[in-house]
Amino acid sequence: MKLRKLVLIGAGPGDPELITIKAIRYLKQADVILYDALANEELLNYAAQGCITRFVGKRYGCHALSQEEINSLIVEYSRQYCTIVRLKGGDPFVFGRAQEEIETARAAGIKVEVIPGISSALAVPATQLIPLTCRGINESFWITTGTTKTGEISIDIKWAAQSSATVIILMAMSKLEAIMEIFSSYGKEHTPVAIIQNGTTKDEKMIAGTVKDIFFRASAANISNPAIIVVGEVVNLHPSMITQAIATQTQGQLQPR
Ligand SMILES: C[S@@+](CC[C@H](N)C(=O)[O-])C[C@H]1O[C@@H](n2cnc3c(N)ncnc32)[C@H](O)[C@@H]1O
Repeated sequence: MKLRKLVLIGAGPGDPELITIKAIRYLKQADVILYDALANEELLNYAAQGCITRFVGKRYGCHALSQEEINSLIVEYSRQYCTIVRLKGGDPFVFGRAQEEIETARAAGIKVEVIPGISSALAVPATQLIPLTCRGINESFWITTGTTKTGEISIDIKWAAQSSATVIILMAMSKLEAIMEIFSSYGKEHTPVAIIQNGTTKDEKMIAGTVKDIFFRASAANISNPAIIVVGEVVNLHPSMITQAIATQTQGQLQPR
């Protein structure tokens, strides 16, 4: 009898080329692929003929299937098929609810393997040329969720706002204004902020500003989910911020004395 296996694969941040070679190998071998909304559907082209592909998307709190239903599907499919792939956006272990699926599989006697992916938290700022750390500017970064499972602002935002770290916030657009108020309350009104929506895809949109004005800018530019918020001095290294700084400097030099 062939071994039943659940393979959790990180699909990367959106660009279908940002996936690992190992992940592609498993996609080709899969009998069933259950995929999320943030996994690029182009990746399904790697699936073999006859492979069952099923969207089980979860997005913006609006679930195509509940986590419990996804867990049940994994067990059901594994009764008939050997290799079940769970294709998840970014990395499965970064806000990916991977553990619930791993525990379900283990309880059903299914072997589990995890193929890491490039998390949007790292890749989306990187492709915008925003480093998360930069010698002389900061020494660490935090990756936090904006909202908890009960819909409140994560308490970690408060701690992160007091640090000198770059703060990368996921799942936070619905609480943007309140989150920026927390940063302001710790004297960070003028700290630069970038928001990138649909990073690494053809629909990518990016805006930059400061803690004080980013909510206004995001509303004006109609920026929404899925988006990543980056708060920290490293945002000043974004090409648009550098151009803006040079323009302001030149303008100052041209002013009559
Ligand atoms: C449930 S979390 C999953 C994160 C994923 N496991 C990862 O490692 O990227 C979903 C959140 O990730 C962020 N996200 C994922 N892909 C994104 C992208 N291409 N552009 C901007 N934000 C993205 C958004 O904040 C979105 O609400």
